[in-house]
Amino acid sequence: MPVPAITPALVEIAGFAGIGRKVLAVNGVDRQSHWENVYRTKSDREVSWFEESPALSLDLIRATGVDHKAALIDIGGGASRLVDVLLDDGFEDISVLDLSEAALATSQARLGVRGATVDWLLADVTSWQPPRAYDVWHDRAVFHFLTSQEDRAAYAACASKGVRAGGHLIIGTFALDGPERCSGLPVMRHDAASIGAVLGSAFTQVESRRHDHRTPAGSTQRFQFSRFTRNK
Ligand SMILES: C[S@@+](CC[C@H](N)C(=O)[O-])C[C@H]1O[C@@H](n2cnc3c(N)ncnc32)[C@H](O)[C@@H]1O
Repeated sequence: MPVPAITPALVEIAGFAGIGRKVLAVNGVDRQSHWENVYRTKSDREVSWFEESPALSLDLIRATGVDHKAALIDIGGGASRLVDVLLDDGFEDISVLDLSEAALATSQARLGVRGATVDWLLADVTSWQPPRAYDVWHDRAVFHFLTSQEDRAAYAACASKGVRAGGHLIIGTFALDGPERCSGLPVMRHDAASIGAVLGSAFTQVESRRHDHRTPAGSTQRFQFSRFTRNK
C-alpha cells in the first residue's frame, strides 16, 4: 500500500540545522535529534506515553461541540493513534505536527492510504508559523517539555495565531504530582492555572480533568488535561 509523502511544508525545518534559528538545545542535545533518535530506536508501543486508545483526548474534542468538518491539529502528535480515531469518527480536516520525521512516518505507514487526507507537518511548535487558524488545537504531552519561559511564550504566541477566535485548545501535561522527567528530559508539571497563566488573556479555561496514564511498563503517570476557548 503506498504511503503518502510528508507534505513539503515541512521542510521549513531548515532551521533545525541551527541555521538562522534559535538554538534548540535540551540537556545539551538538539531537540529534534533527541526525538528523532527516540522514534528511530523504539517502536511506538515501547515508549512510556503510548496509549492504544486516546479515549480522553477524543472525549475532550467531542466536548468542544465541533462538527466533522472542523479543522483539527494534533500538536506534537508523534506516532499517536489519535489521528486514527479521529478519522474513524469521521473528522475530515486533520493535521498532525511533530518535529520528528520518523514519528510522522510511523503514523503514515500505519494509516496507509487513509493518511493521504491528513496534513503532516514537520515543524517545531516554538518556531512554527501556523498557515491557518484551526478550530481545535490538541496537545498531549508536548507543552510540559517547554521548560524555558522563552519557549512557553513562543508556544502561546503560536497558539494565539493557530486557534481561530471562538476555537478550542486542549493541553494534556504531567500534573503537579506527576513525573518530573519524560524520555530522559526534564519537564515542567502543570495545572490548568499554570497553563492559563502562560496562555494569557487570549484564552479562557473551560474545564480541567485529571487522568492516570498506565504506561506499557505498568507504571502510572498522573496527567491533567485542560480545555480552553480562544476569546473572540
Ligand atoms: C511524549 S511524546 C507525545 C506524543 C503524542 N502526543 C502522544 O500522545 O502519543 C512528545 C512528542 O512531542 C514531540 N515534540 C517535542 N517537542 C516538540 C516541539 N517543540 N515541537 C513539535 N513537536 C515536539 C516529540 O517528537 C514527540 O512526538
